[in-house]
Order: sequence, then C-alpha cells, then structure tokens
Amino acid sequence: MRPMNSIDDIPLAKRINYPKKISRNSFFALIVLILGLGVSFIIFIANRISNKDLFSNNSKIFSESIQTDTLLGHFPYSDVSREDLVLFSPGIFVHKDIFDKFTEMQSKASKSGISLQLLSGFRSINLQRDIFYENKSIRNQTAIERARVSAPPGYSEHSTGYAIDVGDGSYPNTHFELEFEQTPAFKWMKKYAPKYHFVLSFPKNNKQGISYEPWHWRFEGTVEALRKFEPANKTLGLK
Ligand code: DAL
Ligand code: ZN
Repeated sequence: MRPMNSIDDIPLAKRINYPKKISRNSFFALIVLILGLGVSFIIFIANRISNKDLFSNNSKIFSESIQTDTLLGHFPYSDVSREDLVLFSPGIFVHKDIFDKFTEMQSKASKSGISLQLLSGFRSINLQRDIFYENKSIRNQTAIERARVSAPPGYSEHSTGYAIDVGDGSYPNTHFELEFEQTPAFKWMKKYAPKYHFVLSFPKNNKQGISYEPWHWRFEGTVEALRKFEPANKTLGLK
C-alpha cells in the first residue's frame, strides 16, 4: 500500500509545471529582439562577403597597405626577395626589373662619351644595420646626424633593390661626393633619367630632411616600384 501523500495522488494537471502566461508586451519585445538579431546577422554576413571580394580581388593592394610612418625622415622598406634580384656587376645586385633599363641608359649615355657607373644597388637590412651603426660610431654621430646621410636599417630604399648609386666612371674622385653634381654623368642623368624611369630620391632641400645625394636614384618604372615609393612621393607633394 502506497502512502497517502504519494506523488501519484496529485492530479496530473497539477503536477505539470506549465509556464506562466506570457504577457502581450513581453511577446512583442521578444519578436523585436528576434528580428533585430536576424537583421544584424544578415548585415554581418553581407559585410563579410563584400570584404572577402575586396580582399581577394585586390589582395596585394590591401596586404601592402601604404605605410607612412617615418623614422628620422626615412620611410620603411623591407628586403626584396632573393629571387627578384639579379647580379649586375661583381658584388652588385639590383632588382631584376631595373637591369634592362639601367643597361639601356648606360649604353645610350656611352654613345655620348659618358660613363655611368653603377656604384651600389641592393643592400640588405642586415648590411644597412652594419653601415648605419658602424659609421655612426666611427664618426661619433648621433642617430639624427647619421640619418641625414644614411638610412637606419629597415628604412633604406636600397633594401628594395630599386635604388642605385651612380658615379661617373671618368671622375672616380667624385664618387659619393657632392662634386658628382658637376660631372657629365650627373648632368646627363638629370636630363635623361626620367626616360628610363629613374628619379633622384634626395634632391636638394627635400621634404624628408635628408642630405642632398646627387648619386642616389630610384627606379619607378613599374607599379610595384611606384607603390613602394608612394609614401615618399606623397611627401614630396606629388599627390
Ligand atoms: N644614403 C641613403 C639615404 C640610404 O642609406 O639609403
Ligand atoms: Zn644610395
């Protein structure tokens, strides 16, 4: 015999815990919440899809977003990949895209009796580090003083492979000197270099505050190269 207060003795209807009646206001609030969540979800998915298109079609443009932070007047540049470098002359590598153009410019100049000599091209960030700190120390200079003539590592156009230092083969004593400006090679380049897509990176009184370097030219003959130098060109007020 079961005890009198056994659960079975309570009528079924009373045993079930029916939810409390939902008020009309609560019901509408719930509907509004569900609709809100649904709309937010649709907007979120739509955004994801359109961003994906944007990134997949222009992945290069977005992955290499324009970097405008400078260090002591210099813009940041990463090392070019090894496979994009070619040997120009003993110990001097340049970006493969400038090889033909520089050779063409050199042979055109030589027809006028002018010797354009490539003095340096690609410099790795590691080499730039050695140059910057070693010379800074030897010359007992502050970083600010040193940076007027040499970029800190990670901030040299030479790391891109697109920058070159040019000398006049007939006037070697002017190599890396302001006097290079007086040579036939410089005068010729000043006139004809744009034809071969080379521009002077650090003209007199440049807005970057870097010392005038008549020997240092950069190549802007491809979109890839132009993109690298976009921040520098913007600083020069070209855009
Ligand atoms: N001489 C230039 C500024 C460089 O070091 O890249
Ligand atoms: Zn240089």
